[in-house]
Amino acid sequence: MNVLLIGSGGREHAIAWKLAQSKNLSKLYIAPGNPGTAVCGENVSIAVNDTDKLLGFAKQNDIGLVVVGPEDPLAAGIVDAFEAAGIKAFGPSAGAAKLEADKAFAKQLMRSAAISTAEGQIFDRFKDAKTYIASRDEPVVIKAAGLAKGKGVFVCNDPADGILAAEKIMCDKIFGPAGDKIVVEDKLIGEETSILAFVDGRNIYIMESSQDHKPIGDGDIGPNTGGMGAYSPAPVVTEALIDQITREILVPVVDGMNRNGTPYKGVLYAGLMITAGGPRVLEFNVRFGDPETQPILTRLKSDLLPVLLAVCDGTLDTVTLQWDQRPAVCVVMASGGYPGNYEKGKRITGLDEAEQIKDIVVFHAGTAAKNSDIVTAGGRVLGVTALGRTIAEAKARAYEAVDKIKFDGAYCRRDIADKAIKKVNY
Ligand code: AMP
Ligand code: GLY
Repeated sequence: MNVLLIGSGGREHAIAWKLAQSKNLSKLYIAPGNPGTAVCGENVSIAVNDTDKLLGFAKQNDIGLVVVGPEDPLAAGIVDAFEAAGIKAFGPSAGAAKLEADKAFAKQLMRSAAISTAEGQIFDRFKDAKTYIASRDEPVVIKAAGLAKGKGVFVCNDPADGILAAEKIMCDKIFGPAGDKIVVEDKLIGEETSILAFVDGRNIYIMESSQDHKPIGDGDIGPNTGGMGAYSPAPVVTEALIDQITREILVPVVDGMNRNGTPYKGVLYAGLMITAGGPRVLEFNVRFGDPETQPILTRLKSDLLPVLLAVCDGTLDTVTLQWDQRPAVCVVMASGGYPGNYEKGKRITGLDEAEQIKDIVVFHAGTAAKNSDIVTAGGRVLGVTALGRTIAEAKARAYEAVDKIKFDGAYCRRDIADKAIKKVNY
């Protein structure tokens, strides 16, 4: 079968890397892809939101399955467009993608399905938001309701900072129309984890757990980013907790989406805070996480392609997956200045040396090919991913590889996986 994968980040390189190993694959195309995906298949120079061109390409190239990586085309209805043309597409419809693309919708759905989440209020006028935030004397979390590349959330310990954040989002429009509405919610305390599940509208298959590191700085300091590193599994997620998350969060959300007339199909990503009172939802995403996908798929032993097809066909109940029991750690190397302004076009060296280390895969995110060089082309540049017998060994191996890779202004956190290492004590 020919497959068209849409996207160009580290997540898409990880998906392409895994699909390329499938014995069911004839040809893999990636639109637009990156220099990493070019090794797994053929990059096609079509933008992720150019649905018409992508559709034309799929028809001409006998594509049996389209796999959509990022949220923007999902929210814009790319899956609906492919399905209308009779082509299987992995991912939710535009209606179901609102679970991520509209945090106000997600909040209301959680409320109606009695899913535990932070107490929150939705505002579409700054004046009302300001009055509400000023009336509180605890920390608040301010969220742009629309899509903001993982940067639309401000955790504010002081309500005055909350008002400033609301002003930036609603009045200065730093995220454009994504900030027409905001959600103001209580700050939750606990440890975060990401639970990703395949959902076919009815059946749920939970993948191995993982944990992202959202803030830019060591010790979780500074502004949020798209994600600076991840590990899998997350020791905070016990089997009992998985049962509780399934019962109290995943099943109710899948049922709620059916009741809403927007059945859910694709990867459902629940961003959770494990509080003293149990798991609470921070957000839902409607796609594979980035960078969580890098350590998760590095650990997946089974063929990914039949699973994606089972999701499209509604036959996920027939699927079982084998996982590598070894943990994996992914360290993101970013351009200096990210998540603010940064320069591009810096030559990257040491990639081959890094990949010669055992059980290392270097996933490309923001890179480009220039003459015979690979150069930086985005904020998050690479996801250096290692397997190890223990989380500590995977971490050490990942950083050994990171240290072989050089580019001007390269930045990474140095504490990826430390929380897990502390927890399991090895
Ligand atoms: P989101 O995109 O909604 O997951 O938010 C991004 C990050 O902000 C999360 O990964 C958390 O680190 C943090 N965050 C979001 N909501 C809350 C909350 N209610 N309490 C504490 N931290 C939060
Ligand atoms: N790692 C967070 C996200 O994919 O949104």
